[in-house]
Amino acid sequence: MATETLNAPASPSTAALPSLEELWMPFTANRAFKRAPRMFVGAKDMHYVTADGRRVLDGTAGLWCVNAGHCRDSITAAIREQAGVMDYAPPFQMGHPLEFELAQQLSRMLPADVDHVFFSNSGSEAVDTALKMALAYWQSKGQPQRARFIGRARGYHGVGFGGTAVGGIEANRKQFAAQLLPLVDHLPATHDLSRNAFSRGQPAHGAEFADALEQLIAKHGGDTIAAVIIEPVAGSTGVLVPPKGYLERLRAICDQHGILLIFDEVITGFGRLGASFAAEKFGVIPDMMTIAKGLTNAAVPMGAVCLRGPIYRSVLEASAAGIEFFHGYTYSGHPLAAAAGLATLEIYRSEGLFERAASLESYWADAAHALKGLPNVIDIRTIGLVAGVELAARPGAVGTRGFDTFLKCFETGVMVRSTADTIALSPPLIVEKQQIDEMFDTLGKAIKATA
Ligand SMILES: Cc1ncc(COP(=O)(O)O)c(C=O)c1O
Repeated sequence: MATETLNAPASPSTAALPSLEELWMPFTANRAFKRAPRMFVGAKDMHYVTADGRRVLDGTAGLWCVNAGHCRDSITAAIREQAGVMDYAPPFQMGHPLEFELAQQLSRMLPADVDHVFFSNSGSEAVDTALKMALAYWQSKGQPQRARFIGRARGYHGVGFGGTAVGGIEANRKQFAAQLLPLVDHLPATHDLSRNAFSRGQPAHGAEFADALEQLIAKHGGDTIAAVIIEPVAGSTGVLVPPKGYLERLRAICDQHGILLIFDEVITGFGRLGASFAAEKFGVIPDMMTIAKGLTNAAVPMGAVCLRGPIYRSVLEASAAGIEFFHGYTYSGHPLAAAAGLATLEIYRSEGLFERAASLESYWADAAHALKGLPNVIDIRTIGLVAGVELAARPGAVGTRGFDTFLKCFETGVMVRSTADTIALSPPLIVEKQQIDEMFDTLGKAIKATA
């Protein structure tokens, strides 16, 4: 990989920081952050640089999104060039070649007949779009009573009202519970520490968790269910890898009852698991996939729904002449995002980054599982270039041990992510072996320090 020259101001200084009061930060403890801010001011390849000039190794690819590493020259150049050629074009009743080119290139990477693409600007928007598409599809099929969605406990599908409703992380739902979508149920999470602790790859036990779908079908009638949406590997809730046979069983039950299966691949797409998508890794093909993050290497926001051709055609053919799907965003297929997406896919291809992730998987798993036996480590889960290290919660203070461990790692030069008491790692796919060692070495020391 290229030698890094960090992008950062010549002499960064906290004195130069603006007022912190006015900004309401997302998913952040605002009061605590503003008392002791953590600021990044530059990034290149595998590293960030902080406002006080420290290098921090990126163990999380930003937020699971900078899969090709930071500030890649060809992506930067593509964005810069496009900004000078055409900054914006309206996506309603107008088009521009780059968005079609990107859709075509994506469709070649996608599994089976998942070969159509609708652009959004984020994973959340992709999820809400997919849910609307499912409803539009069943209307087009003359089955408008299929309006129920099934999500899964501990699932994360972004922050739109649709995604929040099908999502299953309680903390994300409780402030809004009064107004979430009404026709939603949840499958149980697949996490089973008693049988599957310290699994490498897919855990052996738990395919039968999929049978809960049969119970929901018995309760509501299969012909009232529009779609099931799950993350193939749940990321934000703390890295939950699907048990062997689980996804296959879910697919079979959906097929039996004609229910659409949506994989939310916002995290699992673009090489994260050592394959293009989780659908390829696990050999289970959904009817729709939501993607975002690695699509543009996060350099410009962009998301998408990828769907099977028959769904697209059904909605079009059932519609009167004119607009077929009353949905879209001002920035759908934005020229800068499309340019960034094309440059990103080119890097993935030319550097073989998905294959690279696959080839590092076992080194990565060895390094992660070497933390077994450290104080409070109750589980380690790995797949592809993802690891979750679960720590025992402090009595009455869930999440504080995880957060303290994250802070310690940050202070000692490695960016990890904590969700409750699970530490998640998901580095850019350009990571080197000695950087993997550095990540887990630093994490191990932090775990000891916060014991
Ligand atoms: C599985 C999944 N779906 C949806 C989202 C939401 O994406 P965004 O934050 O781009 O709206 C995320 C974000 O982490 C995610 O992990």
